[in-house]
Amino acid sequence: MSKRIPLIAGNWKMNKTASEAAELVTALRASVGSQSQVHIVLCPPFTALDRVGGLLGGGPMALGAQNLHEKPNGAFTGEVSASMLRDLHVTYVILGHSERRALFGETDAVVNRKVLAALDATLRPILCVGETLAEREAGRTLEVVGTQLEAGLAGVPAAKADQVVVAYEPVWAIGTGKTATPAMAQEVHAFIRARLGQLLGLETASRVRILYGGSMKPDNADALLAEADIDGGLIGGASLEAKSFTDLVNSAARSVTA
Ligand code: PGA
Repeated sequence: MSKRIPLIAGNWKMNKTASEAAELVTALRASVGSQSQVHIVLCPPFTALDRVGGLLGGGPMALGAQNLHEKPNGAFTGEVSASMLRDLHVTYVILGHSERRALFGETDAVVNRKVLAALDATLRPILCVGETLAEREAGRTLEVVGTQLEAGLAGVPAAKADQVVVAYEPVWAIGTGKTATPAMAQEVHAFIRARLGQLLGLETASRVRILYGGSMKPDNADALLAEADIDGGLIGGASLEAKSFTDLVNSAARSVTA
């Protein structure tokens, strides 16, 4: 594990009503305790942000959203802006998740505008990149990831670059139970860090957290987190239960001392 403080983020996707979210957070507060070696971010649906934020208080868990609209306000029915999230004490936002790209038509250009809007509002973007199975099988993984990274980060001001978190999520591993092997993931993470060095400078690149996402579970996390450039996880399925999410936080804590 690296010198960077590991980050474990829970992407709850379209799961949990506000009441169910409150139950999970209450359980997590008890099981995670006053963890200080790992940064933890919970990303509930918009409808549960206020309730979850109220329960997090000054504890070790931060609040994240799963999307935002690039414009600050206006006639965009059904959308939510960065300043609306800020007002609810949200500090992180997942952007460019493969489900947004595949199901909601988000292009690299849209994702880039959202990244810039997030940084403008002092939200920390978790920029997701990753290849499909067909792209991997065609030997295009690094090309696809490199393009998504470069396009997603275009125009990011140097002074804000270290606010960015990158999540490498191979699309074929998301929600499928298939995980990249630690070596496969590390190869892409090292590539991402090298590309970040070219884009943002080596010093910044050495500080940016690069998370792995895609069926990360308590039984495969230790091996993934032991890799030099894997600084944490973006967790879907295993973030919906207090026990499995806490196990992942503990795994990240172990990786610091390993
Ligand atoms: P998963 O989802 O852990 O359920 O594979 C990860 C994600 O989509 O962020």
